[in-house]
Amino acid sequence: MTELTIRRLQKQEEIPYKLLLLADPSKKNIDIYIFSSDIYIAEKEEKVIACYVLKAADSKTIEIKNIAVDPASQGKGIGKFLLNNACEIASKNGFKNIIIGTGNSSVGQLYLYQQAGFSIIKIIKNFFPDNYDEPIIENGIECRDMLVLSKAL
Ligand code: ACO
Repeated sequence: MTELTIRRLQKQEEIPYKLLLLADPSKKNIDIYIFSSDIYIAEKEEKVIACYVLKAADSKTIEIKNIAVDPASQGKGIGKFLLNNACEIASKNGFKNIIIGTGNSSVGQLYLYQQAGFSIIKIIKNFFPDNYDEPIIENGIECRDMLVLSKAL
């Protein structure tokens, strides 16, 4: 199997919006955090197949604002690998906690994050209707509330 390499995207490189939009359907909302965040890309045979985005919330806590794997490469352990990589980088940079937010309807993602050691610390009621123009339906469930999960590093 060809190796997957993860590196930080340089400022002059193209922002991988196609991937970012898989995790966050609003470019307007992505642009609120993307220019003040670090983007990490996963490449295989020089093709970007996944990414995640880190942004400090305060001096101790960093947030994974976005994590996405190209549909053709999903379900092969890459998401789990990226989460572990994000935790390692955050820990090396001195952060004590890492957080991630997802919708109440994102059942698979909630499974993945809890399996990776994250636990739910907060629910932000009506986050999605308050911040997105279009309703989001996933797994036949309306995505309304943001669940925030945290892991100690
Ligand atoms: N439904 C059910 N189970 C899932 C799902 C899902 N949508 N996603 C992952 N899992 C499970 C897998 O079955 C696997 O379980 P196992 O270890 O028991 O076999 C485990 O989680 C790890 O799966 P991976 O193969 O590592 O996950 P993948 O490479 O597919 O990446 C990700 C997961 C990032 C969620 C990917 O599916 C994706 O890009 N989805 C679309 C974008 C998205 O929803 N991003 C997250 C939004 S929240 C945010 O960005 C902060």
